[in-house]
Amino acid sequence: MKRGKIAILGGTGALGSGLARRLAASGWHVLIGSRDAGRAGEFAASLGASNIEGMSYAEAAEQGDLAILTVPFASQSDVIAAVASHLAGKVLIDATVPLKPPKVSMVQLPEAGSAAAYAVRAAGAEVRVVSAFQNVSAQLLQDDGDIDCDVLVTGDDAEARDMTIAVVRDCGLRGWHAGPLANSVAAEALTSLLIFMNRTYKSGHAGIRITGLEPHE
Ligand SMILES: NC(=O)c1ccc[n+]([C@@H]2O[C@H](COP(=O)([O-])OP(=O)(O)OC[C@H]3O[C@@H](n4cnc5c(N)ncnc54)[C@H](OP(=O)(O)O)[C@@H]3O)[C@@H](O)[C@H]2O)c1
Repeated sequence: MKRGKIAILGGTGALGSGLARRLAASGWHVLIGSRDAGRAGEFAASLGASNIEGMSYAEAAEQGDLAILTVPFASQSDVIAAVASHLAGKVLIDATVPLKPPKVSMVQLPEAGSAAAYAVRAAGAEVRVVSAFQNVSAQLLQDDGDIDCDVLVTGDDAEARDMTIAVVRDCGLRGWHAGPLANSVAAEALTSLLIFMNRTYKSGHAGIRITGLEPHE
């Protein structure tokens, strides 16, 4: 896939900045979207790569060829609704996990069933929503090393899932077609199990591996 401009909406945060660093290193021009364009600009500069820029959510969504959403569940719908018109016809990769503090190590599914369902509601029919990255540790993405975790990619548009798997690969991870967007609920729910296991086994890096399959080239 041609590596053009990729917006990371919430790219000043833990997950988004890890993805930004890795995608910039693989040749993408990364647009970090934020509520505060000035702060995003300073943050992008602090990452020390000439192909990472900071700007507002709207500017990043407008200029990006595709976008990744990395914001807390509580702000997911508002951020998507605010930028949806700029994402028409584009792929939006949603990484949101519907955690409900304080019991984040217990699966608590939201009323609509999954965060992905809220993403579709907020984005509207014109945006090609795919769900991915829920099970990968932001802390590991911040480092340059190999990451012992696979990424489940769910979505109703096979071409959009393919694009997402290519983006996942550019982050140094293996992505798998894991079915329609309705299946996102399983990946979202798994995150609470991983948080529980991190606490139980005193780690911060629990992940998942799919075995018995060879990825498509
Ligand atoms: N952390 C992980 O290891 C991890 C792993 C997998 C999935 N996830 C999921 O990925 C998403 C992001 O996680 P994170 O840990 O990166 O979150 P985070 O660091 O707490 O926040 C990410 C960014 O979201 C923006 N934001 C925060 N509150 C907002 C609000 N009220 N309205 C609009 N934007 C707001 C902020 O950007 P600005 O201040 O620049 O606007 C912030 O830098 C979450 O849904 C999380 O469940 C996280």
